[in-house]
Parts: sequence; C-alpha cells; structure tokens
Amino acid sequence: MLLTVRDLSLTVPMPSGPLQILRDVSLEVGSGETVGLVGESGSGKSTTARAVLQLIPDGAHTSGSIAVCGVEASPEHPEAIRAIRTNHAAMIFQDPRSSLNPVRRIGDSATERLVCVHGVPKAEASRRLADLMLEVGLRDPESLMRRYPHQLSGGMLQRVVIAAALSTNPRLLLADEATSALDVTTQAEVLALLRRLRREREMAVLFITHDLLLAGALCDRVYVMKDGSIVDEQPGKTVFVSPVNPYTKALADATPRLPKRSKPSPPADSPTGTPR
Ligand SMILES: Nc1ncnc2c1ncn2[C@@H]1O[C@H](COP(=O)(O)OP(=O)(O)OP(=O)(O)O)[C@@H](O)[C@H]1O
Ligand SMILES: [Mg+2]
Repeated sequence: MLLTVRDLSLTVPMPSGPLQILRDVSLEVGSGETVGLVGESGSGKSTTARAVLQLIPDGAHTSGSIAVCGVEASPEHPEAIRAIRTNHAAMIFQDPRSSLNPVRRIGDSATERLVCVHGVPKAEASRRLADLMLEVGLRDPESLMRRYPHQLSGGMLQRVVIAAALSTNPRLLLADEATSALDVTTQAEVLALLRRLRREREMAVLFITHDLLLAGALCDRVYVMKDGSIVDEQPGKTVFVSPVNPYTKALADATPRLPKRSKPSPPADSPTGTPR
C-alpha cells in the first residue's frame, strides 16, 4: 500500500475543552489507485489529508499510525516526515491562495520545491511547470509565471497549484477539493490529466471532494466520512448509483440532478400538439 492510515484520532485543545476532530480513521490507497474521500463540510476530510503530511493544528494530540510508501509518519521522526513530504507525497491544498506566497511571483513560488528541495535547475523547473500549466488549460504560462497571485483568478490559481504539485512527480497525490473551483470543461481536462498520470506513473491519488457523483465517476474506491469517522467504503462504480449505507444514500439523494428531458407537452388549444 502507498498510504496506510490506521485508527487515526486527532483532538485539539479548545478553551471549552478538548475537541475531537478525527475518530479512528482507517484508510488505504494502493499504487496507481484513485481513492475518494467524501463527506459533508466539517466532516474531517482536510484534517485527515493534512495529517498524512503531519500538518496538524498546534497542540493537537494524535493517536494511531500513518505510513506513506512504507515510511512511518510520526512527530518523533522528523527525517521520516521530511522524506514523505519531499520524496513521496504532494498535496493540492483546498485554498490555493493560502499555498502561494502573495508577495512572490507565481513562477518562483510554484517552482520553489523543485529547485530548493529536489535540486532541479531553475530553467528546467520552469520548463516542467510551464508544460504542466499548459496541460491543465492555462495559456501563456511564461507570462503567468511572472505575475503575482492577486493578479490571477481563483480558478487559474487552482490550476497553478495542481501543476506545481504534479511537477515533483509524487507517488501519492493528496488532492483536497482540487477541481471544485473550476468550470466543468477545465475540471474534465484536469481529471483526464490525473487519470493519465495515474496510468503512466502509477501515481496514487487521495481525491477529496464533497461531490459523491464526481468521486464515484473518478475513483476506484470511495470512503465516506461523517463527524470525523469513516462510515462507509464502496467501489466507485456503486457508491453513487446503489448506495447501501443510509448516510451515503442521503448524500447521493442530496446531489442535485438535472431533470430528465421529456417531450414538451402540446399547447392546450392545439389538438395535434404541432408547434405553430
Ligand atoms: N485547528 C483547528 N482548531 C479547531 N477546530 C478545527 C481545526 N481544524 C479543523 N477544525 C474543525 O475540524 C472539523 C473538520 O474540519 P476539516 O477542515 O477537516 O473538514 P472538511 O471535511 O475538510 O470540511 P470542508 O468540506 O468544509 O472543507 C471542522 O469542524 C473544523 O472546524
Ligand atoms: Mg476541507
């Protein structure tokens, strides 16, 4: 398994007393597998993904275990955490603005990891990023890389951070609502890119979304989260179309659907219904 999370619990101290955010979360992602993590807002999806990289809130208490590519992630082993963050996993954060330095040019921020951590020469890193920016539907990447985050729309920034995360060739991609701010056409392009990279590089993806329909369409397996716990696990093929778990069914039922197209009913004063 590329990612194994076992009985992960996480509690943060609050003025009103300890607040448990995750309860015995267990999940697995295999090599080349795309696994969905779905649940309503506040169910703990982002906290789970961030915990994989040991990005946990200050003062939080955790129990359970996390391993990425066989490397145990634990606060007592900073080298292991560094190895996971640099060599094995990359995360697309839910809010792209928070992961780019507002006073640095896009190109410098987005290639920083490649240059400073992976030792790729700056020109090569920029070329790699530009190619991926084109693949996620951004035109004129060289000009975009010279701009600052406030000069790009939310959807453009989201595509920049997707390209930056993919540029390091991670074995495991933690994609937190990575396509939620994109229009449907761009979303389809990004999903096609993720599918291709999964095939070509055997990249594993933990795909976090609140959209059960999307998760079912993209993922091999889907975990459903509620109130900090995993409450269901289903193959992507069936999770939306024939959910068994009552909570998953409620999520599926809450998904807006287009009404079935029906023939327009004939006008009341027209016996044949032939349009006039
Ligand atoms: N540092 C923190 N201190 C206190 N509470 C926190 C902290 N981080 C997260 N929480 C709480 O933990 C719960 C889970 O948050 P999380 O961001 O993981 O949810 P989510 O499933 O990703 O939601 P969304 O779909 O809105 O992104 C929420 O109730 C949130 O308010
Ligand atoms: Mg979230």
